[in-house]
Amino acid sequence: MKTPKKFVIRGGRTLHGEVEISGAKNAVVAILPATLLSDEPCIIENVPEISDVEISLRILRELGAEVTYMGPHTYRIDTRSVQSSTVPYESARRMRASYYFMGALLGRFGHCRVSMPGGCPLGDRPIDQHTKAFKKLGAKIRLEQGMVDITTTENGLQGTQIFFDCVTVGATMNTILAAVKADGMTIIENAAKEPHIVDLASFLNSMGADIMGAGTDTIKIRGTKYLRGTSYAVIPDQIEAGTYMVAAAATRGNVLVKNVIPKHLESIISVMEKIGVKIEQFDDAVRVSADGPLVKTSIKTRPHPGFPTDMQPQISALLCLAEGTSMIKEGVSEQRFQYVDELRRMGADIQVDGKVAVIEGTGHLTGAPVKACDLRAGAALMIAGLAASGVTTIEDIYHIERGYADMEGKLRALGACIEKKTFPQDPVHHEHAQITRQDAV
Ligand code: EPU
Repeated sequence: MKTPKKFVIRGGRTLHGEVEISGAKNAVVAILPATLLSDEPCIIENVPEISDVEISLRILRELGAEVTYMGPHTYRIDTRSVQSSTVPYESARRMRASYYFMGALLGRFGHCRVSMPGGCPLGDRPIDQHTKAFKKLGAKIRLEQGMVDITTTENGLQGTQIFFDCVTVGATMNTILAAVKADGMTIIENAAKEPHIVDLASFLNSMGADIMGAGTDTIKIRGTKYLRGTSYAVIPDQIEAGTYMVAAAATRGNVLVKNVIPKHLESIISVMEKIGVKIEQFDDAVRVSADGPLVKTSIKTRPHPGFPTDMQPQISALLCLAEGTSMIKEGVSEQRFQYVDELRRMGADIQVDGKVAVIEGTGHLTGAPVKACDLRAGAALMIAGLAASGVTTIEDIYHIERGYADMEGKLRALGACIEKKTFPQDPVHHEHAQITRQDAV
């Protein structure tokens, strides 16, 4: 999915105005496979225009589903004609969340063959808890040439009790998908509590599923044989909202972030307020402004309702602009500091030791050619580029486009000077030098 496109940002402009948040990536990538469990067509609304959605829809089509675009952000998905239960390497490798097709196909057919997932390169990310849950439900699992082959006995999947060894979003959602049509009751303990887990459960319940406790650490799923069609709107993206909130603060702007659920933003709001950012909350919007000094702070990322790991790189970029020493402890993901080298190219002073980063806030950053190494790293570089003096060019923006709908359009509407450019052959340094010269004129 690599493209030769780059973002070119002339930094230093204050963001002002309003931005509309799209549907949540981490909810929709499970809800789309979940339509395989429906015995009737479904209408899904508030679908974000991101490449992870394109891949999910492509996989549904490859499996034999009818996917119809109904208008902005809305699709009708009819999976009744699906016969295949195989997701090949070519499709699955493009997106880590392709693992949700395992749970959904297993729940629908009692068997599936899905390639080991690809996606954001965030270090070693096992799926042992997913397979542990499938096995507890009665499935047999073999790994053959990179394909996970999952089958059940004649009796099909049987409700059971599952205790996860770590809090995992993916395994919690995958177990819900597999168990929703199993025989009897499945109880998941030590479940993850993220808003997208509640959203997946609400979607399935709107089809007639019987899922209780989503959003707590114990989820009970009573298996249901028939799931009817539904019309369902995906929740707003908590992380996209947080990213625009931080971008507004980093540029000392004043932005109304619309179509959000403020409750989902509590931990982000609390950290940003500690940093000195003003946040006003409304029913479905928050206004962010930052005209005073940005203050150093210490943060630890945790599973929901803690501060999300998916906001860690963006908040680091903001803390580079604060005065004083901040500390960030990564409590969820492995290797989530890969972006630090790129921020250093922009003048950031960050030292990383294992899961801890110490940021010496210098109050400013300078533009540089940089590379997005994963989705949220890319978002952090966007924020840094918006706040920096001079020009920043960001390479490998396909990472950003996996999870942010029209980021350059939304930022431009807020007053940012940002362009998406295709650079077929030329090295980034040459282009960067050229633009910097023009800029200086
Ligand atoms: N883990 C295991 N075994 C498993 C599953 C997870 O050891 O079977 C570990 C992971 O290695 C990790 C921790 O448990 O250290 C949490 O992993 P989790 O399963 O919660 O993460 P995930 O499902 O792979 C989702 C999001 C990520 C987000 C994490 C944490 C999707 C598609 N992805 O990943 O989103 O960082 O939860 O909240 O929902 C992103 O949006 O940028 C992104 C990477």
